[in-house]
Amino acid sequence: MSTHNTVSVDLGKRSYDVLVGEGLLAEAAQYISPLLKQDRVFIVTDEHIAPLHLEFLERSLCDSGISFETMVLPAGDRTKNFTHLRKLIDELLTRKIERSSTIVALGGGVIGDLAGFAASITLRGIDYIQIPTTLLAQVDSSVGGKTAINTEHGKNLVGMFHQPRLVLADITTLDTLPQREFLAGYAEIVKYGLINDPEFFGWLEGHGSTLRDGDRPGRIHAVVTSCRAKAEIVAADEREAGQRALLNLGHTFGHALDAETGFSDMLLHGEGVAVGMSMAFGLS
Ligand code: GLY
Repeated sequence: MSTHNTVSVDLGKRSYDVLVGEGLLAEAAQYISPLLKQDRVFIVTDEHIAPLHLEFLERSLCDSGISFETMVLPAGDRTKNFTHLRKLIDELLTRKIERSSTIVALGGGVIGDLAGFAASITLRGIDYIQIPTTLLAQVDSSVGGKTAINTEHGKNLVGMFHQPRLVLADITTLDTLPQREFLAGYAEIVKYGLINDPEFFGWLEGHGSTLRDGDRPGRIHAVVTSCRAKAEIVAADEREAGQRALLNLGHTFGHALDAETGFSDMLLHGEGVAVGMSMAFGLS
């Protein structure tokens, strides 16, 4: 088993771990298996991630005798809508998914949010596991149980709080992440520094470029620190009655920009957050 860092999200009976390290995907079954109620999972991923990472997950499951079915969805923010939610749920029901089945979301924030939402409402709620493959998903969207789709009224307006059973953040998956997406995720990391951790913000000022260039120990430190910050806030305010709203720093402007650009690749979500944080700073 490779070494990894563990961040616990402390939510009583719904507590779970976020594991951060290198090579976790190829060993995924070892971490997933103890959580399964039956030796069967349903993997949801997208067409960008599947050729890069799916094989490692499937091989690990195969070697451990866990059967799986896989659905590959189109990549991009526009997939997070009613049409694809319905397609996903239809597929789950066609494959006779059961209450004791588990969904595994392999991908970025879009896949995690969509698969998590489907898990929360199919058969009145089944388990799911997050395997985030983008920086944004590793430091933010895979942790904390927010699941949702977008509608023409705005981003994430239809969804549920539904906590995953486990988050596996394999830092090696970031090696194939386009730089633009890495930087978009980096905005969410900076957010944790700005919210309440000046020391971390200072560290980022000194290490931002090495993180961008692939420094794995540095990336692990940044992801673990971000996940710890988020886990603490989520444990204190799971359903955003107060403190959790801090995690939305820059997001009000960011979501408006996302909507204005039609949830298209013109502006990635993290880019909207980066611009939004600077707009919030200007306003304040
Ligand atoms: N991304 C903000 C939150 O999880 O609350």
